Amino acid sequence: MQARVPAGLDHKEGEVYRQLDPERLPKHIAIIMDGNGRWAKRRHLPRVAGHRAGVAAVRSTVETAARIGIHALTLYAFSEENWKKRPKSEVDFLMRLLGRYLKAELPTLNDNNIRLEYIGRQRELPPDVRKRMDWAHDSTAQNTGTILTLALNYSARSELVDAFRSMVEVASKNGGVEHLRIDEDAIREHLYTRHLPDPDLVVRTSGEMRLSNFLLWQLAYAEIYVTPTLWPDFRGVHLLEAIAEYQKRERRYGGLNDSQAAGTGSNYSDRNTSRKEKAHHFQGNISKLAHHGE
Ligand code: FPP
Repeated sequence: MQARVPAGLDHKEGEVYRQLDPERLPKHIAIIMDGNGRWAKRRHLPRVAGHRAGVAAVRSTVETAARIGIHALTLYAFSEENWKKRPKSEVDFLMRLLGRYLKAELPTLNDNNIRLEYIGRQRELPPDVRKRMDWAHDSTAQNTGTILTLALNYSARSELVDAFRSMVEVASKNGGVEHLRIDEDAIREHLYTRHLPDPDLVVRTSGEMRLSNFLLWQLAYAEIYVTPTLWPDFRGVHLLEAIAEYQKRERRYGGLNDSQAAGTGSNYSDRNTSRKEKAHHFQGNISKLAHHGE
């Protein structure tokens, strides 16, 4: 039976959506938005023109994710390295663009029931940008649909440093470091992403095969999808294509596939367990992890 196409998808998106199994959508998709500079260069435009054009890609991708019911979408908008290593004029432009984006997109976020969150060292961002970020966050806090998380001034290594510091600080306020509990659940509870399940799928545009210090802990088992499309050309239909590719992959989480497990007597080799049931089993585990993190 063909899946019913959700309202709001255009013709092309509808065609790709019909190939998807709506019960096996990734719960959390993370995207490394890359290629703005190259997009601009190809057009003999300044780099910032690529960033400006990237906003339309953000809008289309976010709307499509919300329309098909993706639980969480995390966009790598600005790394800590970008902040430190790019010319001040470009950084200033990106900050202004973010402020304008938040103001202009708020009605769309609310219309689509999207809740906005941020990850990254926010305290290092300019106070006026932080104020706008807080305003947009608070204005969408009541929404119950897709959680859109913007990674701003984000570095996965800094996130781990902050998590370990926070664990020690909490322990020292609760009886001292001898009460420090270090295990995976404890670390997860102190990550910036404690409000999210781990991503199932990470998309990178512009063909680069790197994680670039993005969600290093959380992407441990994520499927990686790299497309040559430059970020400003990326649209909702490309997100659906990435999901279609994701659904062709077999996720093993360090276990065995059917044919490998068949000879081992492992419960998991049970031929009566359909792929769909297994997918539900995995999704269930992911939800449990998410709840641990809250
Ligand atoms: C990477 O392209 C992109 C960025 C560093 C900025 C991302 C910003 C946007 C997509 C604009 C708007 C986003 C929001 C959330 C308002 P690059 O400059 O590294 O490209 P290059 O590798 O081709 O030089």
